[in-house]
Amino acid sequence: MTVRIYVPGDASALSVGAQEVDEAILREIAARQLDAKVIRNGSRGLFWLEPLVEVATPAGRIAYGPVSAEDVPGLFAAGFLDGKPHPLCLGPTEEISYLKRQERLTFARCGVIDPLSLEDYRAHGGYRGLERALSLTPEQIVEEVVTSGLRGRGGAGFPTGIKWRTVLQQSAAQKYIACNADEGDSGTFADRMLLEGDPFLLIEGMTIAGIAVGATMGYVYIRSEYPHAFRTLRRAIAIARAEGYLGASVAGSGKPFDIDVRLGAGAYICGEETSMLESLEGKRGVIRFKPPVPAITGLFGKPTVINNMLSLASAPVILEKGGAFYRDFGTGRSRGTLPIQLAGNIKYGGLVEKAFGLTLGEAIHDFGGGTASGRPLRAVQVGGPLGAYFPASLLGTPLDYEAFAARKGMLGHGGIVVFDDTVDLARQARFAMEFCAIESCGKCTPCRIGSTRGVEVIDKIIAGKERAKNLTLLDDLCELMQDGSLCALGGLTPNPVLSAVRHFPEDFDRPAEPKPAAAD
Ligand SMILES: Cc1cc2nc3c(=O)[nH]c(=O)nc-3n(C[C@H](O)[C@H](O)[C@H](O)COP(=O)(O)O)c2cc1C
Ligand code: SF4
Repeated sequence: MTVRIYVPGDASALSVGAQEVDEAILREIAARQLDAKVIRNGSRGLFWLEPLVEVATPAGRIAYGPVSAEDVPGLFAAGFLDGKPHPLCLGPTEEISYLKRQERLTFARCGVIDPLSLEDYRAHGGYRGLERALSLTPEQIVEEVVTSGLRGRGGAGFPTGIKWRTVLQQSAAQKYIACNADEGDSGTFADRMLLEGDPFLLIEGMTIAGIAVGATMGYVYIRSEYPHAFRTLRRAIAIARAEGYLGASVAGSGKPFDIDVRLGAGAYICGEETSMLESLEGKRGVIRFKPPVPAITGLFGKPTVINNMLSLASAPVILEKGGAFYRDFGTGRSRGTLPIQLAGNIKYGGLVEKAFGLTLGEAIHDFGGGTASGRPLRAVQVGGPLGAYFPASLLGTPLDYEAFAARKGMLGHGGIVVFDDTVDLARQARFAMEFCAIESCGKCTPCRIGSTRGVEVIDKIIAGKERAKNLTLLDDLCELMQDGSLCALGGLTPNPVLSAVRHFPEDFDRPAEPKPAAAD
């Protein structure tokens, strides 16, 4: 029987040599005339072990990693095709503690299947959600999503079912589904991993959304920095269409739905939903005034469901197993699971899908193993560049929308960026203002001008000029940006800035840095 070897084709694995490993394995197979084939799977999300190579044995899949091309002849010599021991052997993949302790609902197939095999997708439970959805009325589909308690994973945490219901209730000849896969937040990669590792999941989720609200067309907006994800999804869409899962009659139901993909414009603001609509329509990514909300007047002026990639990818399991099944995971008003992305100065960076409620410290220490540098952890930024900086004393905060909001933070897209004790929070605050100045769409004054003034004020504080006066000025400026900005880019930039001042005041009270010597 042909032995199956899995080598990730995911961008994270490719960046550390997976392509060379694949080629070295193919060379050994040919030279040794073995009956084996390589499958390019997605990543399991254990990034420090990439390239993580697996072999399917009668005892299950056995993992080896991190494997380099030079390791490959030795692996064959040790009998890795039979799952034999080797210094790089990690044992059965599913038994690796980092993976075993997770609750993978959305990422259940990621890294397991061949991403472009519809047969594999179906063999692992794919399209069961759509099958059930097709047996329900649109209202019943929407009610399952409402029951699940699913909240948008893009950042704002708005209930997905309520959004779908609003679009369902609109009478319009044309409605759209728009998937936000711009994934601009620092330290986040969950959208990319799924797009590369399980693209049919998004296709199924969008199809369910389309059938639920009466939309016949969907667009996926993928950030331009994700060429692999873009290519994989495009190929998956072509396969789904060829197999009758997209097109004039989805899975023979008589209901039409199709999907197209667009590359993002390379701006953080294009991830904001109304900017994304402008960009999808071929215009510059600038914020639209709300109301009307996109659910009523969205893409090309038509009712549109805009959801983050992970929100849409949660729909299949909710429809397959029922809203109540999904709701049973989680805590408080944060239901289901959160794909946590561990990044920054962390030993074991990667993807951890767990029910809401795990504490920040558990995610960082029990999964992440603490800092990569081995130095004490000093700060954590959760929720992307607009998220607050938390000190180590807040590591007991549960990963839950309300618990974070109560501490003036936010969960955002679930990205956790860790810093050790070498971080300077005054510099990080300056970076937040500078980021806003660079990424501002320019439509409103508090953000466009305020962020530039913010950089100047923080520079004065760092330089030790009239610190007390400038800290008060910074506070006033932040209040103005929070209250007067048209969208959350300007409105939330004060979060990282003020949290840095609040939790790390000593960094704003250091001796002034000496001026760099003037050039000759
Ligand atoms: C500046 C800014 C950038 C954003 N970037 C993203 C992004 O990259 N991906 C995303 O899904 N949502 C992003 N959002 C949130 C979207 O505006 C919107 O809330 C989301 O796509 C809705 O989907 P959801 O309800 O499924 O989360 C951003 C918001 C702002 C203000
Ligand atoms: S807050 Fe900034 S990004 Fe948002 S509309 Fe105003 S200028 Fe544009």
